[in-house]
Amino acid sequence: MENPYLPYLGRLADIQPLASDIRLFRFEFDDQAVAQDFTYQPGQFAFVSAFGVGEAPFGITSVSGIDDTVDFAIAKVGTVTRALHEMGVGDKVGIRGPMGNWFPLDDIKGRNVVFLGGGIGGAPLRPVISSILHDRSSYGDMTILWAARNPGLLVFTEEYDSWRQAPRTHLHLTVDEGDENWNGHVGLITRLLQQVGPSPDNTSVVICGPPIMIHFAVIELQKMGFASEQIIMTLEAKMKCGIGKCGRCNIGEKYVCLHGPVFSHSEIKGFLESFV
Ligand code: FES
Repeated sequence: MENPYLPYLGRLADIQPLASDIRLFRFEFDDQAVAQDFTYQPGQFAFVSAFGVGEAPFGITSVSGIDDTVDFAIAKVGTVTRALHEMGVGDKVGIRGPMGNWFPLDDIKGRNVVFLGGGIGGAPLRPVISSILHDRSSYGDMTILWAARNPGLLVFTEEYDSWRQAPRTHLHLTVDEGDENWNGHVGLITRLLQQVGPSPDNTSVVICGPPIMIHFAVIELQKMGFASEQIIMTLEAKMKCGIGKCGRCNIGEKYVCLHGPVFSHSEIKGFLESFV
């Protein structure tokens, strides 16, 4: 891509409900040549424009070269997201990107991987999980800990069976509060983490979720013997403008939107607390 600040035109090819007030938006480029050139990595984000309303940055949840569309899981929480939620299949939107750094999938080859995903914050982990599933033999055991406030807020539920059936892959779900149909684990993801008790040996941890969840998960992981270098996270939940202007995402001397959104804990140690 020559200029990441140029918006591309396209249409919403599909919209699927993911959870209460969270939808999966599938974007298709108008220009096939642009679609071919638009390659991206797990963890990167892009701006989506609702014309006449504004644009906002969202983590990309599809996998470049595997999925046909560029997908975003978007919760209805603000002006732009409300406008997107009112749109239908075929409606025109703009997209610019991809932006940001990405999860170091090559660096963690041969290692076990533990995922901690919380709420819609788990959405950016979906392309990392999918990428590993497509190259399953290059990685060790995969343990996915997936959380939400309640069962209605669990995202990507239709993928859980394929995750469970993949070799050396284990899925553990938890909710803060169950309902009459829920017979799984209830409690914070940190409690689930204690119960599952992954070994730090030859293991990397990949986290995405609300900053408070990340903060307490890191504390728990350190108690379990994980070193900062073994803990990788995306802090995209803190982004707003996405271009270094609003000051909402600074962490120490770094800005999530300019230097991230993916960091190892060793890069931001001492600053995560101020982020919560
Ligand atoms: S999101 Fe506004 S400065 Fe980073």
